[in-house]
Amino acid sequence: MPSNDWISTTTKGRDPTCVTRAQEVAQRCGFPYIERRDSVARLVRKAKVGGAYVVGLEKAELRAEGLRLAVHPSTLHHVRHLGRSHPFLRAVAPEGERVDRVVDATLGLAKDALHIATFLECSVVGLEHSPILTCLCEDGLARLGPPWRAGAARIEVLQAESRSWLAEQEADSAEVVVLDPMFETARPAAAGFDLLRRLACHDPLDPELLDQARRVASRRVVLKLPRGSKPPDVEKWQQIRGRGLDYFTLSSCHDGFSAPP
Ligand SMILES: C[S@@+](CC[C@H](N)C(=O)[O-])C[C@H]1O[C@@H](n2cnc3c(N)ncnc32)[C@H](O)[C@@H]1O
Repeated sequence: MPSNDWISTTTKGRDPTCVTRAQEVAQRCGFPYIERRDSVARLVRKAKVGGAYVVGLEKAELRAEGLRLAVHPSTLHHVRHLGRSHPFLRAVAPEGERVDRVVDATLGLAKDALHIATFLECSVVGLEHSPILTCLCEDGLARLGPPWRAGAARIEVLQAESRSWLAEQEADSAEVVVLDPMFETARPAAAGFDLLRRLACHDPLDPELLDQARRVASRRVVLKLPRGSKPPDVEKWQQIRGRGLDYFTLSSCHDGFSAPP
């Protein structure tokens, strides 16, 4: 959905802080802010757009075509009991290793970033290309309560294209870079995820992004792929199986791990 297909507004209360934020979101994303004097559905119809970014005190969400999308810990609640033994966290920081700084180069709705920041207690820089998804992450993370609040506070959300942002960073300036590109074939997901698919950057994982990730990560690059997919030069990567997907790690000790020329 293009940015001219949205409006921003607030929940019914029209709280002044929500109005200010909805205006800011509108300006950053390049669509109109409309005062909440009617139902969201009618505002959307009158503006002849596809959907609305709705800012409330407790929640900020996208609403379009009966779908809603917001930042939510969702499935993280179900894996809390695993702590650091979750396959994703074992891929990022094996054997209780201490990491201080991770770059999540494909932030999406910040679930992986929150997983890392909460359980590894490290800072995470989250890069997201889509301005709307970036705003949604900022709003959603700022509203999370316990037990996610402390982790959310360790995430720095940046609107950036990962290749360009990584290219400007010093070599070895984070321990780990995580990549979770959009899957070519959509996997079954919550209904609202369809909105993410429409807004997301679908750039494939290309050698340039991988090279930049390898240059910036001092210890390893972690790549999340659907079951059955393989990274380039698969023999250089270590595979950790997750549920329905695999985590591939490329360690900095490996011969193939060097800065691009
Ligand atoms: C599969 S989603 C990531 C989901 C995320 N791991 C989570 O836990 O919510 C991929 C996200 O990366 C973003 N993205 C893809 N390529 C990108 C790039 N080159 N730079 C910045 N963001 C990118 C997409 O817009 C999308 O939001």
